[in-house]
Amino acid sequence: MDACKGKKIVAGICGGIAVYKAAYIVSKLVQAGASVRVIMTRAACEFVTPLTFESLSQHRVFTDLFRDDPLAHVELAHTADLFVLMPATYNIIGKLAHGIADDFLTTTVAATRAPLLVIPAMESQMYTNPVFQENKKRLSELGYRFLEPETGHLASGRSGVGRFPSEEKIFKAIEEIFAERSLLKGRRVLVTAGPTREMLDPMRCITNKSSGKMGYALAEQARNLGADSVCLVSGPTLLEPPVGVEFVKVESAAEMHKAVTERFPKFDLILMAAAVADWRPKKAFSHKLKKSDARELTLVLEKTPDILSELGRRKKKNQILVGFAAETEKILEHAREKLRAKNLDLVVANDITAPGAGPEVETNIVTLLYRDGRSRTLPCMTKCEVAREVLREIARLL
Ligand SMILES: Cc1cc2nc3c(=O)[nH]c(=O)nc-3n(C[C@H](O)[C@H](O)[C@H](O)COP(=O)(O)O)c2cc1C
Repeated sequence: MDACKGKKIVAGICGGIAVYKAAYIVSKLVQAGASVRVIMTRAACEFVTPLTFESLSQHRVFTDLFRDDPLAHVELAHTADLFVLMPATYNIIGKLAHGIADDFLTTTVAATRAPLLVIPAMESQMYTNPVFQENKKRLSELGYRFLEPETGHLASGRSGVGRFPSEEKIFKAIEEIFAERSLLKGRRVLVTAGPTREMLDPMRCITNKSSGKMGYALAEQARNLGADSVCLVSGPTLLEPPVGVEFVKVESAAEMHKAVTERFPKFDLILMAAAVADWRPKKAFSHKLKKSDARELTLVLEKTPDILSELGRRKKKNQILVGFAAETEKILEHAREKLRAKNLDLVVANDITAPGAGPEVETNIVTLLYRDGRSRTLPCMTKCEVAREVLREIARLL
C-alpha cells in the first residue's frame, strides 16, 4: 500500500459493533506508512477503550472536544489528507447529513475539506431504513465517498446487508482516493456554469432553467482531483461557489464571452457546462416597460456570440475542450453534430426530459461522445458523481 506512505489519515471511530475491525484497519494503515490520528465518539469508547487505538496508532486519541487540546479539531481538519469514518453508524451519518457538530468527530468533519471515506456497518433494517438511505444520498451528493457494506452474517446473528467490508476493499478505496487526488495535477481547469440573462428592460430578462449544479460540481471535483488551479465562470445561480476555486460572476452571454475568451489561453482543460443564451433582444429598453406603453410588443432577437465555436477554432494542441449538449430530441445525433461542428474533444450529452436528468434534479444521466466515434453512457448518478466520472475520462484523454 505505497499510496498510504507519508499520508496523514484521520480515523473517525464510531459506536458500532465492528469497531474491533476498525482497530485492525488502523493498525494496517500505520504499517503501510500512514500517520493515523484517531478520534473516537463516546459510543465508540463503550465498545473499545481509547488505549487500544492509542497503542495501534502510536498517538493519543481524541474523544472530548472540551477536555482535549481546544484547537486540535481545527489542526486535524486542516492537515488531514483523508478522513476515514469506520464503522460509520446510522447516527453519525444522520448527524453529518444535517450539519450537527456536537462532539469532537462531527466538529472536525465539519471543519475539513479533505476527502471523506465513509464505511457504514449496521443491522440490515437500519441500513435499509429510508431515513438512513436519504441521509446517505445527501452526503453522497455533497461528495462523501461511501463504501458499500457486504451482505452476510451480522453480529445480531441474523443475515443481511450491513457487514463491515473486507480489508482489501477498504485499501482499494483508499488507494483510489489518493490516486485521484493527483489525477489533474499540473493542469489548469476552466469551467462555465449556470444560465445567462439577456435583459429586455432593467427588470425583465430572457433566461433559461439551468441551475448551474453540473458546472459547480465539475469545478469542485476538478479541485478535488488535484488541478493546479480551477476557475469557475458562472451566470446567475443560487449556489455557493466551491471553496478554493477562482470565481468569476457574469450575467449576459456577452459577459460570459468576454470572461471566457480572455482567460482561455491560460487553461489546459475547458469545460463549457453553462447554458448560454443563443439569442438576445436586439434592443434593450433603458426604462421598465409599462403595460400601458403598448397594446402589443414584438421582440426582435439577435444571435449572441457562439463561444464554443470560437474556442474550438482557437484551441491549441495541448488544450482539451469539452462541450455539454442538453437536448430534448435526437440526443446523440445533435450531440455528435456539436462535437464535429465546434471542434470539441468530448461532448457530454443528456436528455433533459428524462426522469433523473435535467436542471431541476440532483442527478443526471449522461452519454460521453468522443472524437473517434466511441460513446459511453453512464448510469443515473448524482451530479457530483457524474462530474468525477467525466473528469476521470478527461484525465485519460490527457
Ligand atoms: C451492542 C450494540 C451494538 C451496536 N452496533 C451498531 C452498529 O453496528 N451500527 C450502528 O449504526 N449502530 C450500532 N449501535 C448503536 C449506536 O451505538 C448508537 O446509535 C450510538 O448513539 C452511536 O453513536 P456514535 O454515532 O456517536 O458513535 C449499537 C449499539 C449497541 C448497544
